[in-house]
Amino acid sequence: MAKKIGILFGMEDTFPWAFIDKVNELGNGEYEAEAVKIDKLEQGADYGYAVIIDRISQDVPFYRAYLKNAALMGTYVINNPFWWSADEKFFNNCLMTKLGIPVPKTVLLPSSERPDDTSEKSFRNLSFPLDWDYIFDYIGFPAYMKPHDGGGWKSVFRVDSPEDMWLKLKETDQLVMMLQEEIVFEDYYRVYCLGKKYVHIMPYAPTNPHHLRYAAESKTKGKELKELLKTIKEYTIRINEALGYDFNTVEFAVRDGIPIAIDFCNPAPDADKNSVGEENFKWIVENAAKLAIQKAKAYKPGKSNVPWGNFVTDK
Ligand SMILES: Nc1ncnc2c1ncn2[C@@H]1O[C@H](COP(=O)(O)OP(=O)(O)O)[C@@H](O)[C@H]1O
Ligand SMILES: [Mg+2]
Repeated sequence: MAKKIGILFGMEDTFPWAFIDKVNELGNGEYEAEAVKIDKLEQGADYGYAVIIDRISQDVPFYRAYLKNAALMGTYVINNPFWWSADEKFFNNCLMTKLGIPVPKTVLLPSSERPDDTSEKSFRNLSFPLDWDYIFDYIGFPAYMKPHDGGGWKSVFRVDSPEDMWLKLKETDQLVMMLQEEIVFEDYYRVYCLGKKYVHIMPYAPTNPHHLRYAAESKTKGKELKELLKTIKEYTIRINEALGYDFNTVEFAVRDGIPIAIDFCNPAPDADKNSVGEENFKWIVENAAKLAIQKAKAYKPGKSNVPWGNFVTDK
C-alpha cells in the first residue's frame, strides 16, 4: 500500500496543490499525497500519515493538537509541533549569540499592560524603572520594536527616539516586545531551508511594494557576492540544525559585508507563486516534495517520531 503524505493548510491557493501534484508525480505510486482529512480526533488514534507538512497550525490550536498526536503515532510532522509551540523570537536571538551567528543587539521589554489576572504584586521581581539608560545606550536609535513571538510584520514598529518608543509601546497592550538595533543594510535576503540542508537564497527588497519584494537584485557583486552567499548558506544550515526546523525561511540583512540574521523563525513561510515568483516557487515545490518522500521512506507506524534541534540534545 502506498505511504500517505498529507498537507495541512489554510488560505493558500498555489503551494498545497502544486506540492500534492509533485509528490504524486515523483512518488511512482509508492507515495501518495493529499490534503489531510480530519473528521474526528480521538486521543491516541493513528490516522496513518507517514508525513504531514504543516502550513497552518500556528493559527489553529485544534490542528496543533492533531499534529502532536500524529507525531506520537509515528507521523513525521514538518515542522515539529512541540518545538513550534515553544519557540519565540527572543529565545532564537539568545541562541544565535551562542551559535556565533551575528544578530542585531536586542533586549526584551515587559509588556506595556499587565497580563490578565495579575496585579502590581505579580511584578515584585521587576525593578521600576528598568535600567533604561543602559538599554537606550546599548540599542541606539532609530530602533525596531516587534513582538517576541510575532510574525507576518504584525506590530513591527520603527522608533526614532525614547519618546516615540513609549508612544508605540502603549499601543502594544499585553504583547511582550523586543527592542532591537536597526540594521542599515546594503543587501537583504530571504533564504528557504528544507531538511536542514537544502538552501535557496533569494534577494529580497523589504521596502518595495509587496508584489515587487522578490524582484530584488544583490548589490554585492563578483567575488564578494560569492563569499557572502557561502556564509549565508553556512549560517542558514547552522541555524536550522540548532532549531530543528525542516521547513523554514531565514532573513539576513547585510551590513558592511556581514550577514546579520533578522528573522529566522518562519516555519510556515510564504510559498505562494504570486508572491515569491515562478522560479522560487518551482524550487520550493520540488524540494518540499523530495523531502516529504525521503521522510516517508523512513516512516514506521506507531513509533513516536519527533525531529528536535541539536541545541536541545547537545550536552
Ligand atoms: N533590526 C532590524 N533592522 C532593520 N530592519 C528590520 C529589523 N527588524 C525588522 N526589520 C524590517 O522589518 C521587517 C519585519 O520584521 P521581522 O523581524 O521579519 O518580523 P516578522 O516576523 O513579523 O516578519 C523585516 O523584513 C525588515 O524589513
Ligand atoms: Mg520577517
